Amino acid sequence: MIEYRTLKVALLGAGSVGSQVAKLLIDHADELAARVGAGLELIGIAVRDPDAPRRADLPRELFTTDAHSLILSADIVIELMGGIDPAREQVLLALTSGADVVTGNKALLAEHGPELFAAAEQVGAQLYYEAAVAGAIPIIRPLHDSLAGDRVQRILGIVNGTTNFILDRMDVAGDSLESALEVATELGYAERSDPSADVEGFDAAAKAAILAGLAFHTTVPLSAVHREGITDITKEQVDAARAAGYVIKLLAICERVTDGEGREGVSARVYPALVPREHPLAAVRGVHNAVFVQAAAAGDLMFYGAGAGGLQTASAVLGDVVSAARRHVVGGPGVAESTHADLPVLDVGAVRTRYQITLRVTDVPGVLSRIAAVFAAHHVSVETLTQTVARVDEAMPSESGEEAASGTATLVIGTHTAFESALAATVDALRDSDEVVTVTSVLRVEGA
Ligand code: NDP
Ligand code: HSE
Repeated sequence: MIEYRTLKVALLGAGSVGSQVAKLLIDHADELAARVGAGLELIGIAVRDPDAPRRADLPRELFTTDAHSLILSADIVIELMGGIDPAREQVLLALTSGADVVTGNKALLAEHGPELFAAAEQVGAQLYYEAAVAGAIPIIRPLHDSLAGDRVQRILGIVNGTTNFILDRMDVAGDSLESALEVATELGYAERSDPSADVEGFDAAAKAAILAGLAFHTTVPLSAVHREGITDITKEQVDAARAAGYVIKLLAICERVTDGEGREGVSARVYPALVPREHPLAAVRGVHNAVFVQAAAAGDLMFYGAGAGGLQTASAVLGDVVSAARRHVVGGPGVAESTHADLPVLDVGAVRTRYQITLRVTDVPGVLSRIAAVFAAHHVSVETLTQTVARVDEAMPSESGEEAASGTATLVIGTHTAFESALAATVDALRDSDEVVTVTSVLRVEGA
């Protein structure tokens, strides 16, 4: 029988993920020891209420409310409490005392990553966070290690399961956003108290900040991530997208971009976009996540799987725990986060993409040429223009407030690639134009 040294592991939090991590550490102790070359002893679990019922059968004597003492006794600290306070303070305590930290806390990393990585570097400790983006899917390690010799150009990610579930229900089952959100809440995907982290894109924005920082070796603050959620997406937009061969997905996009002045930088943004049905991301259904990476040498790669779930996410956490433990066995300092490129994070106006704009216009001679002139005046090139409906309606007020004297037509206009700033100016001008009754929909087209 091999005698292993023992590494002490402290767990902060025993909710959906933490309880599964504790169970795996206990149930698979022998196998993990053989893989690591050291025993992993779970020395305690810090929670708010030690007597609360747990999702896994765990020894009561492991539970404590004294996180401070637990942290100071550990070689490896696993933070699965979530939120900023007291997670930030406790992760800092663990790192400054020399323990390696494993966390799944995207909000903490997106807001305080630089402070935490600096604390880790100062003492040669390591901060691991595979579970923070896309749950069980290995994406942090591929970006950090496997693609470290390549040059990542672009990442398109479906990184929020709740919103993907809602958009999928709207597409496949014909649900409205409200009823799809109700189902997502009933199934436990969306937060009951506050679904805005999911539907307003905050959760995806935190993940975009983490992915962009890692992929482009640059600090990307959460405040620099452009964010739009899915709350304005209508069933009509979903149906029109389907008819045109697209599906609407909430995407986290991280990209190297060059702005109008030739300045190179990074863009990190979250918004709902039209994705062609034949794109691999279009096939990502329900609560699943996927991250599509385009790298200069490797080409296109896609990482797919469960983006959430206690047991699924515990797999990613355990992978990090094994990495941390192996480093303790082998010795040597942690590897500092690479931010050497230090690229500017550019405003969304510097992004170039394609757009699909749906307008309701007055159906009078010459309207098409006047609408086309608005696009041309803002250097946005029209690729397709379809008049989908033409009917005689009651007179109705236009965007500029005047009464439309005749019937209306619906125009669907697809553009070539254009700067976001130019498109925004075009849409403003369309709204002011006498011919436009309503700008019904403006969506970006990604992955085409
Ligand atoms: P839960 O809300 O289910 O569990 C949180 C746990 O932390 C509870 O055990 C709670 O204790 C404990 N806790 C919270 N605040 C404190 C505090 N102030 N002091 C001590 N203990 C505290 O969270 P999840 O397991 O769902 O998520 C954990 C982390 O993993 C989060 O950062 C989340 O973003 C991330 N994550 C979660 C995923 C998922 O599918 N759930 C997927 C990917 C990442 P008590 O039980 O006593 O209340
Ligand atoms: N609320 C998140 C989601 C959980 O729906 O994907 C995982 O971060």
